[in-house]
Amino acid sequence: MTLDQSAPRPATTDRPFDVERVLAELTLAEKASLLSGLDFWHTQPVERDGETLVPSVMVTDGPHGLRKQDESADHLGLGGSVPATCFPTAAALGSSWDADLLRRVGEALGRETRTHDVAVLLGPGVNIKRSPLCGRNFEYFSEDPVVAGDLAAALVDGIQSRGVGTSLKHFAANNQEADRMRVSADVDERTLREIYLPAFERVVTRSQPWTVMCAYNKVNGVYASQHDWLLTTVLRDEWGFEGLVVSDWGAVRDRVAGVAAGLDLEMPSSGGRTDAQVVAAVRAGELDEAAVDAAARRVLQLVARSLPALRSTGAEDDSFDIDAHHTLAREAAAAGTVLLKNEPVDGAPLLPLAAPADVAVIGELARTPRYQGAGSSQVNPTRLDDALTALREAAGTDLPFAPGYTLAEGPADDRPADELVAEAVATARGAGTVVVFLGLPAAYESEGYDREHLDLPADQVALLTAVAAANPRVVVVLAGGSAISVSGWRDAVPALLVGWLGGQAGGSGIVDVLNGAVTPSGKLTETIPLRLEDTPSYGNFPGELGHVRYGEGVLVGYRWYDARRMEVAYPFGHGLSYTTFAYDDVAAQVTGSGADAAVRVQVRVTNTGAVAGAEVVQVYVGDPVAQVQRPERELKAFAKVPLAPGASRVVAFDLDARDLSYWHPVLRRWVVEGGEFVVAVGASSRDLRAQVSVDVDGEDVTLPLGELSTLGEALQHPVAGPVVRAGLDGATIDPVMLAMATDMPLAVIADFGLAGLDRGALGQLIEAANG
Ligand code: BGC
Repeated sequence: MTLDQSAPRPATTDRPFDVERVLAELTLAEKASLLSGLDFWHTQPVERDGETLVPSVMVTDGPHGLRKQDESADHLGLGGSVPATCFPTAAALGSSWDADLLRRVGEALGRETRTHDVAVLLGPGVNIKRSPLCGRNFEYFSEDPVVAGDLAAALVDGIQSRGVGTSLKHFAANNQEADRMRVSADVDERTLREIYLPAFERVVTRSQPWTVMCAYNKVNGVYASQHDWLLTTVLRDEWGFEGLVVSDWGAVRDRVAGVAAGLDLEMPSSGGRTDAQVVAAVRAGELDEAAVDAAARRVLQLVARSLPALRSTGAEDDSFDIDAHHTLAREAAAAGTVLLKNEPVDGAPLLPLAAPADVAVIGELARTPRYQGAGSSQVNPTRLDDALTALREAAGTDLPFAPGYTLAEGPADDRPADELVAEAVATARGAGTVVVFLGLPAAYESEGYDREHLDLPADQVALLTAVAAANPRVVVVLAGGSAISVSGWRDAVPALLVGWLGGQAGGSGIVDVLNGAVTPSGKLTETIPLRLEDTPSYGNFPGELGHVRYGEGVLVGYRWYDARRMEVAYPFGHGLSYTTFAYDDVAAQVTGSGADAAVRVQVRVTNTGAVAGAEVVQVYVGDPVAQVQRPERELKAFAKVPLAPGASRVVAFDLDARDLSYWHPVLRRWVVEGGEFVVAVGASSRDLRAQVSVDVDGEDVTLPLGELSTLGEALQHPVAGPVVRAGLDGATIDPVMLAMATDMPLAVIADFGLAGLDRGALGQLIEAANG
């Protein structure tokens, strides 16, 4: 089936749209009018004397499917959007670690966007999963910025290859839903630079999304929508962003400050209220008209970029194949499924299912799938697969099924819980394998609020316990948008997989994995912790009284669990296969130094099992000695490598200076501090197959010396160090005294007459040291 939606087109003239000519023709009031929306989903047109000077274009959500609302729909609600393919959510897409797949999904999304005459799809979201509690984690890729950034860049490339735009969101530090429209994310600069900004940076510098959407929240006390440092210094001046900055819907608090800071377009409409404020501020000399011109120019550029697709009709790009997109959604759902556990029972692992016709299916989620999250990303799917039907189709027989529990979104069932469990136990008993579908009910996670805990509903755990006692050959399939606690029940379950919120074909995609039609190759992009209390932001999430303190600093996700040597249920990067892979010949070679430091890493990967599969090879880097505390290891590169049984491939990764750097909080720049770096290659963050140390010639990271530099710092200093050491050698200071003096400022050392220093000598030393 093909959907061709080539009319109606937005009213445009066919005159080439010359941004500078149009800008020069506009009055101040017209320019200001461009800086806010026409309504919920359209930019403002400019009409004069019946002629359209600037056409209006439409933007809509995003990110994993098109949510184009009917004209009649309530603009906040979710009903009434056109049917569109609901691809797996970012949680699932990310777990594929497959940039090529993300690009293809992006192309399909772009094609649907274009077919419906929409200029910009509002996504992807690359906020870091700081806590598994964030209600919107399903819309985000990872707790790690490299996975999030690389995969989102591929998605953006795919979407934009169809002549429509994307909106990279929510910039920045929007890592929770609680108080999201007001809270100040209080984050030190190093943590922002190393954890919360790099995914945005990767997408901006590699893929130039047409737009970036600012977040609702404040960052260190300033609303993101008026944050000059974020929107201009970092985004444009440092990263070279060329597109338009749009507000999140309703994120503008001070429009004039926003224009000055680099917020080009406010959405949705302000009914002209803020346009008038902009005009008044220019007239009063409080806002430079050049800032209005800059923002208006970017709106015009967005319109100019959008017009070719909007004006084209009948082209191959202006229609899409619903069946083909559903098939792609199914492929993506299978690719994002993570096999967490597959232990032998009676001598063989339960998966893939040895006898698909001898299976009992338990769990309402098998019949009533949860396949996307609630809120602005909610798509009206073109079709919907459920796992029960897919399992029955694959088996060619009517497999027994019992719901076991109810869901508010499932069919009404008035039977008491113990009756549902008893029925499920009877259904499971004697079956060759029992596949139990469990997961988070829809009300547990959503845009707009956070989860309260990591647990499954108690009735589901009770069901599982009873079923596993009756038949130990249990496979559990989990559905949910972020980490779910498996503590307390996973030992009763020999096989466990998670399909996240897998989109409209999630049901069939997961069955492809269960049956072995697809060999699982997904890996966790977020740690599954043992307990909520173990999570990095515990105690600092979601904050209070308008502030959330990012107290864990750079130790987010696996960086935290590794630093603390903590046990986790399943580590970042983990995911099993139906085949096995060997890693050999790991080598790392330094290929550059200083600010151009570089390391080439190579590894041979071999499929040592009996079936074809794909391995996600992960490269982690650690810098054991540095001026700042660095995470034990950090993911810097990865590759998904498909291999036939017995086949081998050498995979190479080029790490650059940035991959070795940290953000120096005093020098306020990236630095490669020389010395030993540990490069580890593996199948997960805790399944490292080989480790190689390299010695890198770094940059000069000597800090300027001053009166308040400590004796210890002076001793480390290349110029001052020998002088001070000589002074100490000349004096007889006992070791305890010396240890006490190490953290004393030089001024105090001089006043005490230690290390041969007095104030005069100290002044000379500082001058010499700072050159
Ligand atoms: C969400 C955005 C979304 C926008 C438009 C906001 O509430 O945070 O992600 O794109 O609404 O629906």
